[in-house]
Amino acid sequence: MFTVNINGKDYESAHDKKLLRFLRDDLHLTAAKDGCSEGACGTCTVLIDGQKVKACVPQLSKLEGKKILTVEGIDPSEMRIYEHCFAMAGAVQCGFCIPGMIISAKSLLDVNLSPTRQDVKSAIKGNLCRCTGYSKIEDAILMAADFFREHKEIPEEPKSLHMNEHAKRIDAVEKVNGTGVYTDDIYLPDMLYAKCLYSKYPRAVINAISFDKALEHPDCVEILTKDDVPYNTIGHLKQDWDVMMGVGDTTKYVGNVLAVVASSKPEKLDEILSLIEVDYTELTPITSPFEALKGDAPLIHEDGNVMSRANLVRGDADLAIKNSKYVVTRKYKTPWQEHGFMEPECCVAVPENDGLLIYTTSQSIYDVQRECAQMLKLPPEKVHCHAPLVGGGFGGKEDMSVQPYAALMAWVLKRPVKIKYSRQESLAYHVKRHPMEMEFTTACDENGILTGMKGIIIADTGAYASLGGPVLHRACTHAAGPYNYQNIDIFGMSVYTNNVVSGAFRGFGVTQSCFATEMNINLLAEMAGIDPWEFRRRNAIKPGDILPNGQTADPNTNMEACLDAVKDVFYQNKYAGIACGFKNSGTGMGKKDIGRVLISVENGKIHIRTGASCMGQGIGQMVLTEICHVTDLDPALFVFENADTVRTPDAGTSTASRQTVMTGEAARRAGEKLKLALQGKQISEIEGMEFFGEYSAKTDPLGAIKENPISHISYSYGAQVIILNDEGKIEKAVSAFDVGTPVNIQSVEGQIEGGMLMGIGYGVTEKFECVDGYTKSRFGTIGFMRADIAPELKVILCEPKEEDKFPFSLGAKGCGELCMIPTAPACALAYYRYDGKFRQELPLKDTPYRKS
Ligand code: FES
Ligand code: FES
Repeated sequence: MFTVNINGKDYESAHDKKLLRFLRDDLHLTAAKDGCSEGACGTCTVLIDGQKVKACVPQLSKLEGKKILTVEGIDPSEMRIYEHCFAMAGAVQCGFCIPGMIISAKSLLDVNLSPTRQDVKSAIKGNLCRCTGYSKIEDAILMAADFFREHKEIPEEPKSLHMNEHAKRIDAVEKVNGTGVYTDDIYLPDMLYAKCLYSKYPRAVINAISFDKALEHPDCVEILTKDDVPYNTIGHLKQDWDVMMGVGDTTKYVGNVLAVVASSKPEKLDEILSLIEVDYTELTPITSPFEALKGDAPLIHEDGNVMSRANLVRGDADLAIKNSKYVVTRKYKTPWQEHGFMEPECCVAVPENDGLLIYTTSQSIYDVQRECAQMLKLPPEKVHCHAPLVGGGFGGKEDMSVQPYAALMAWVLKRPVKIKYSRQESLAYHVKRHPMEMEFTTACDENGILTGMKGIIIADTGAYASLGGPVLHRACTHAAGPYNYQNIDIFGMSVYTNNVVSGAFRGFGVTQSCFATEMNINLLAEMAGIDPWEFRRRNAIKPGDILPNGQTADPNTNMEACLDAVKDVFYQNKYAGIACGFKNSGTGMGKKDIGRVLISVENGKIHIRTGASCMGQGIGQMVLTEICHVTDLDPALFVFENADTVRTPDAGTSTASRQTVMTGEAARRAGEKLKLALQGKQISEIEGMEFFGEYSAKTDPLGAIKENPISHISYSYGAQVIILNDEGKIEKAVSAFDVGTPVNIQSVEGQIEGGMLMGIGYGVTEKFECVDGYTKSRFGTIGFMRADIAPELKVILCEPKEEDKFPFSLGAKGCGELCMIPTAPACALAYYRYDGKFRQELPLKDTPYRKS
């Protein structure tokens, strides 16, 4: 028997186990999160005898006689200060890292109430945050120190809420104090745990599988195989993904599932899986799109190895290039990138009536419903999906991961089942950013005015399509950059391989093609004898110009102002790099693009209901602000409901920077109806009433026969500057962005800061490795930036003039993706100016962060 003292109380355990497992699985103290179970992320941080310790590391046997403090044990009056400061500073996005941050903050502030920013950075350097860029977390901790030191009172909450204000997010407090529920925090009576058996090889024929020994294991409750799957093919857009594989099948990547096992003891699952015997004939995997395109390459899918093509032609690029004074042609290569959301994928499926209730971490519960219902051959209404809090997504939680397997097991056994990826499973099996190889030719006249460009893009989509089609489209439609020229010829192909699947990732293809475009522009500027800022300023798109994809730039296009805002900082720093970017808001391209919000008045409270999934970007605060802005009601009157297929209308996937525009406008429309109904009335007088808002953006498909097709309903624009110090380290990053009217200033700044740091990771510090079809990376060594090496981040918001504002969602445009698009090329230019080496591949080599 092991006795440990937690939050002042003694607890006993019959078995020795990791502290984190005891806290979560036995005591259901879930504020300490399980982000990796391998000591790399810090989400599980607790205090042991006043020292911060990662709870996933020590065994209970080492903790007898010690005093353990979790977030649940922090004195409520002290916690209120943290809640206020973290919410006020805008330090909370997905929130998954935040309880661990609070513990690290407490470990500092318990001994030092006058810390410097460097002290704070040092205190939280063991805590990874993928959302915020750390800056606002540091602000929050410094603010808390001030409150404790000066015995400050927490101010009253304001009674109104409007656009373009500093306001606390509606979901901040529960994420700070650890009471907010993520899927892995759900523990149900009689719940089983399940885990999948994955293919040993990226490409192999499965000759035989024997389950005999595994079934004899005393803790094995069930093993399910392909034969148990009612309908074996799913897929986010293209239906090409095998739910499971069985005897006679040829595997497509190491993420193919051969069996799912269930046990009431999660610690026994690996043991049971190890008893399943599989006989394979190993085949040589195809690990590059160029191999896959060879005439004699085996077909990974029956319909061929080319998953998708895109071609964007405007004007006459050949002629324009031929007649241009300066022409540059270069090849570029961009890598996979791991999303690195702090919360690994998790799903709890529960029998409900004659169907299922699925709790899951996802970017769209309606997609989960559609795909799981299809697999189980059930009508969608029998698959009820609910989103608890989601600990980050960045595009990586659009595809199914663990959901089909939890749903299948719960459906067969009629018992609750939880499946959670280990961190290594998450790394190996969920989608990544598409690697792309590009050859771009760009031309300009003697004055540095861009004249035309041609490009070829080859993308590795891995074993399945995922969102590879639209990612390729976006790479092509944005490939010419936010500049005013019209002779474009871009061709792209996305190709199947036996590598890890590539899919959606913040920036969605534009991150890749922007690197090639901006790098060519740097060379043209040099040839024309014009500096990089001036060259971009001469070509910047402005209202009324025609975007390279043929769309007329709207009056709210504010690219020039973004460049003007970073002019001084660029010229004042010797090793400054600059790049520009633009990004659509909304799926566009003629696709269905609808936001929906339902407001209902229930028991004196106004419920906001939308299926738009928040994975940290702040959907709740966004819709609340739109509604409060038009109604002038007190935000305390509102309840924001998490996405749920029974309670909340389908607002589409949280992707393509679309929710602020689509669901924001739907919220505004619902809010206007509420305002009308309330005229001269009290809330009690409209009890039971509902107000529905919907907004559907109308756009044209790629290749529409129109002079100026509307590809997307809106675009955001931005310029970034990256500054190196004399040692070549990134000292500061500055973003000037036109994202329309900020809904909430801290949230917009926080998104941009987090995006900049993610972009620096993509450009310089991170490397995800998939070698011969096998994931080689570990979470702790990918190269995610930590607080102590993160540079200073500065955000400048360049709103269009009032009369030019985007006409929907009270002028707000998307900002979730643009923020990391120009970062890598800005880093590359900074290093070019630092050492004269022109780098054509990411992550950049020969830097203090990554040697060649
Ligand atoms: S869960 Fe303990 S460090 Fe990640
Ligand atoms: S808020 Fe830190 S990981 Fe999401």
